[in-house]
Amino acid sequence: MAASGVDVIDLSVGEPDFPTPEHICRAAEAAIRAGKTKYTPAAGIPALRAAVAADYTRRSGLPVTAAQVVVSNGAKHSLHNAFTALINEGDEVIVPAPYWVSYAELIKLCGGRPVILPTRLEDDFKLRPAALRAALTPATRMLLLCSPSNPTGVVYSAEELGALADVALEANLGVVADEIYDQLVFDGRPAVSFATLRPGLAQNTVVVAGVSKTYSMTGWRIGWTICPEPLAKAIGNLQSQETSNPCSISQHAALAALTGPQECVQEMCRAFQRRRDLVAGRLAAMPGVRLPTIGGAFYAFFDISAALARGRNGTTSAQWCEALLEKEHVALVAGSAFGAEGHVRMSFAAAEEKLSSGLDRIGRFVQA
Ligand SMILES: Cc1ncc(COP(=O)(O)O)c(C=O)c1O
Repeated sequence: MAASGVDVIDLSVGEPDFPTPEHICRAAEAAIRAGKTKYTPAAGIPALRAAVAADYTRRSGLPVTAAQVVVSNGAKHSLHNAFTALINEGDEVIVPAPYWVSYAELIKLCGGRPVILPTRLEDDFKLRPAALRAALTPATRMLLLCSPSNPTGVVYSAEELGALADVALEANLGVVADEIYDQLVFDGRPAVSFATLRPGLAQNTVVVAGVSKTYSMTGWRIGWTICPEPLAKAIGNLQSQETSNPCSISQHAALAALTGPQECVQEMCRAFQRRRDLVAGRLAAMPGVRLPTIGGAFYAFFDISAALARGRNGTTSAQWCEALLEKEHVALVAGSAFGAEGHVRMSFAAAEEKLSSGLDRIGRFVQA
């Protein structure tokens, strides 16, 4: 539609709309000029692994070493590496829904069985310890957590994560904690890293993060795992055979991101918080629309089941999104993609004027 000249407002994408900060781009240019254009160690250049370890240690308070870090081609690659290294055929991995689209597919690719646990909007889409306990079977190997969450924007508190950690420790589960949005937390709340919450928990946890969202570097493809050293070694070996090192130039850019000025991160986070205020306020005021408390990331995940029950714009979230696109030229993502039919995801990684017009159109659509 956009190619044929229709004014489509695309609020479907999961990437910051800001340019990559200038000093990071310059570091990449300098890396090219300095000939940093060759193979690097498969797990990443030592300086970047050390910078990731130092940054994580500083922000989380949990000391980790460079040897525990493997740098990969984006956090998605890091997730795939962690699953490949840890999952055996038939292992069950508990994935709370709504979940980010790739989790279930990546787990299946590695021979695992994703066990999707629905959560409730009334609980802010947070997994409750009792539900986790009830889902455990002898085949349960791993729990996947994502906070701040894509697609819901919900942020677990330390107490909530701690209660899940207790169940995970009791059942000796591995935990993959996807913390890619850990620096996009609003209202002055601290980001909590799962691995820090109980003594010994870090032994069972793989933290996944990267530069994509924090520094608006989605295209540079740099993410990482932080985990116990023997597992990091195995992941490094796996990566060495599969892809070798992530792009050398991007690694130098990521190094500049982590070790350079951090005001850009705070500025982007403040902008997302302003947009969150706008979007959450406007959506909550629309008839029949319900949404959880958005504490971070840049998504609003809202319930449209009342509209679907009336059936005027379809009876599934995919049909509703298609009708919204056809009638009002706004692109959102159907909740069914995230294992939560009856909802839709709107990204607020877009300029305020664009969000405002998008919300006007959604409001008109909902009321028609
Ligand atoms: C929750 C979550 N994890 C991981 C990723 C992947 O990040 P990357 O672009 O670094 O591969 C995304 C990207 O959308 C995400 O939303």
